[in-house]
Amino acid sequence: MASSHFVLLAILSSALLVVHSPAGTLAQTPAAPAPSPPGPLNFTGILAKAGQYTTFIHLLTVETQVAKQIDNQLNTSTEGLTVFAPTDNAFNNLKAGTLNSLSTEKQVQLLLFHVLPKYYSLQSLVTVSNPVRTQANYGLNFTGLANTNQVNVSTGLVETLVNNALYQQSPLAVYQVDKVLLPPELFEAPAPAGSPPPTSTASSGGSNSTTTAKSPTSSQNTDSGANGLKFWYGSVVGGVAICMGMLIS
Ligand SMILES: *[C@@H]1O[C@H](CO)[C@@H](O)[C@H](O)[C@H]1NC(C)=O
Ligand SMILES: *[C@@H]1O[C@H](CO)[C@@H](O)[C@H](O)[C@H]1NC(C)=O
Ligand SMILES: *[C@@H]1O[C@H](CO)[C@@H](O)[C@H](O)[C@H]1NC(C)=O
Ligand SMILES: *[C@@H]1O[C@H](CO)[C@@H](O)[C@H](O)[C@H]1NC(C)=O
Ligand SMILES: *[C@@H]1O[C@H](CO)[C@@H](O)[C@H](O)[C@H]1NC(C)=O
Repeated sequence: MASSHFVLLAILSSALLVVHSPAGTLAQTPAAPAPSPPGPLNFTGILAKAGQYTTFIHLLTVETQVAKQIDNQLNTSTEGLTVFAPTDNAFNNLKAGTLNSLSTEKQVQLLLFHVLPKYYSLQSLVTVSNPVRTQANYGLNFTGLANTNQVNVSTGLVETLVNNALYQQSPLAVYQVDKVLLPPELFEAPAPAGSPPPTSTASSGGSNSTTTAKSPTSSQNTDSGANGLKFWYGSVVGGVAICMGMLIS
């Protein structure tokens, strides 16, 4: 009796050990005792390790210096960062020439549009209030899907699921997206939901009279606000100068 109990116990505890150890090694972000990794976070290293982000990495490190900027911010920011990483497939699905048509400056804007200047867990994105500020001049909108831990991100031109965390530990969250997040401000709105003609190589580009179709954005509002302020300030300064002139003469 007693010995069979002992044997049972032994089997049970060794089974527990077997269950435990692979789980520990599998977990990428273990609930480890160490609160923070020893070295500085290597953002492009995380992408490289995940293995389907070569275009994104190339844009971040070769075409632009945005990766450096992100590394610096990770090192200094107290708020952390959230990055949406489009897969190579996402870039391949862009219309031919989309990236090449952008100046370096606009490529930087496009990349910074994928970065939020704050760490957001997936759960916190479900309830965040829209639009959410990005590192570019335009915001992103997030919609939580009921009864799931899933979130859609929307630019106004593109909507896609935020579905896989490559890394999620403050101060850095990196989520996979299967579409490149195109800001309407950089890309003229295409014919909505229509089938884009396959012969996209012609640079005719279509109507440029449709710029009024741009959606009103906060950035535009603040721009015009800033211009209004400058105008007001200029008027006041000008008025004072005229008064001074009258006084002197
Ligand atoms: C970060 O990772 C990349 C790719 O694995 C590597 O080339 C680079 O040297 C690493 N940088 C640092 C600071 O460790
Ligand atoms: C991070 O910041 C510290 C000082 O705050 C600096 O010594 C270190 O070189 C920085 N590391 C990187 C990778 O920028
Ligand atoms: C984002 O959300 C805000 C607030 O709900 C809304 O006013 C705006 O139109 C939305 N923008 C897009 C592109 O969906
Ligand atoms: C989320 O985005 C996908 C497109 O990727 C769309 O099919 C789906 O309807 C969206 N869901 C919600 C709740 O907006
Ligand atoms: C279309 O845009 C080009 C440059 O973007 C400009 O030179 C041309 O005048 C525009 N045409 C019309 C009809 O607005």
